[in-house]
Amino acid sequence: MAENGKSEGKPLRIGIEAIAFDIPEHYLEMADLATARGVEPAKYTAGLGQKQMAVATPCEDTVVLAAGAGQRLIKNFNIDPKSISMLIVGTETGVDHSKPVSSYVHQILGLSSECRVFEIKHACYGAMAGLTTAVNYILSGRAKGRKALVIASDIARYGKNTVGEPTQGAGAVAMLISDNPQLLEIDYNNEGFYATQVMDFWRPLYSKEAFADGHFSIQCYLDALSGAYNLYKKGDEANGAQSKAANGKFEACLYHVPFVKMAQKAHQRLLETDGGQKFEKDSPELKAALQDFEKRVAPALELNARVGNIYTGALFLSLAYLLESSAGKLAGKPISLFSYGSGCGAEFMGAKIMEGADRLMKVESNEEILSKRRQVNMAKYEEILDACSKMDLNDEENLCQPEKWDLKRPVLYLGTQNHKRIYSVNGVVLN
Ligand code: HMG
Repeated sequence: MAENGKSEGKPLRIGIEAIAFDIPEHYLEMADLATARGVEPAKYTAGLGQKQMAVATPCEDTVVLAAGAGQRLIKNFNIDPKSISMLIVGTETGVDHSKPVSSYVHQILGLSSECRVFEIKHACYGAMAGLTTAVNYILSGRAKGRKALVIASDIARYGKNTVGEPTQGAGAVAMLISDNPQLLEIDYNNEGFYATQVMDFWRPLYSKEAFADGHFSIQCYLDALSGAYNLYKKGDEANGAQSKAANGKFEACLYHVPFVKMAQKAHQRLLETDGGQKFEKDSPELKAALQDFEKRVAPALELNARVGNIYTGALFLSLAYLLESSAGKLAGKPISLFSYGSGCGAEFMGAKIMEGADRLMKVESNEEILSKRRQVNMAKYEEILDACSKMDLNDEENLCQPEKWDLKRPVLYLGTQNHKRIYSVNGVVLN
């Protein structure tokens, strides 16, 4: 073994050095949405587990949210942009059929031109695919001390009066991957993945809104979890792990969270997969599973409940919350991460929370970021949705006026002119 924790030039420890998220400046209370749609509010709050839903205005597109998360990461963790030699944006809300979101973000963040820059799409799995790509890049030794920035950015939109409406949301999570994983070390010695072609959720090229076969999509998610987790367990056994139930070794279990209740269903499925059978209604096993959910899963879900589905970033939003709220007591402990992307592809992996991660996360608290948002009523929410449906029309005037939407953020999407997207940073229009 060579010095600096490296073996034959390859870093031994790889993972997340820094993490930050960005969310739209407005949100809607779930109870207001339920009342307007003639639904019992408890269906959205208790039934789906959601409290609020982020609402992105026309000036807050995928690029703006991704750039916001990247800027916050660079500032809060004092990162030198020149140290980044790979930028990956995972998104299923692309802004162009050809040009990647990452090119705009690369310019806004002021990254070096000596940088690999690309976008990955696979529904909500895109950012996890980016994360594993980044880990492999650092592991190969070819980064030579430089780092990879992976940003998940999405706007989840099903449209007014649809069954998916209460599971909308928007936001971005940026993660810096390096051989200095001061927040989370990724266990790259084992992983479980799964893929099969299913029509559970999709967004045709002509549509701004997604379509879902909602109840079928829940089954697809759960089956993909069983598949990925079973492969992970095989890998664990091959690596000589003693425990039959790989799940027993994780102090916290993080899942893709399209809505909070989905994480509860997922955790139950994980335990059933370990136990080899489905838990009966009212059985002691089911009661124990619910208690275990409260202990090992629920503590990470507050941001998801107040932001909604952010597709590729939903899993990592839970991670950001867990790192700030519980990293102290979980320091040195293993956790699991499960990513699901409709269509479908999934991945299950293990990781370890690092000592001191909670202190590093305290520069700007989650609550501080949430508290800067403004609440909208139903009329404003619907006005925003209508405006968003037209925001990419070429040469439409006055569609993305920041003043109209009461925005304070430095980066804004201003609309499309001459078939080119226009962005401004601190009032200066970018070329
Ligand atoms: P729905 O038919 O409106 O709701 O669809 P429901 O009738 O199934 O009720 C939801 C829950 O509320 C149920 O709980 C009800 O019992 C309960 P459960 O039985 O499931 O535990 N409920 C109540 N609880 C308390 N008080 C009440 C009450 N009434 C009912 N009064 C659905 C819900 C999620 C299917 C819909 O919103 C939808 O289609 N959403 C979009 C698709 C989705 O989120 N799928 C998730 C899995 S796929 C995935 O995660 C990938 C994705 O993120 C995309 C990607 O990969 O890119 C979506």
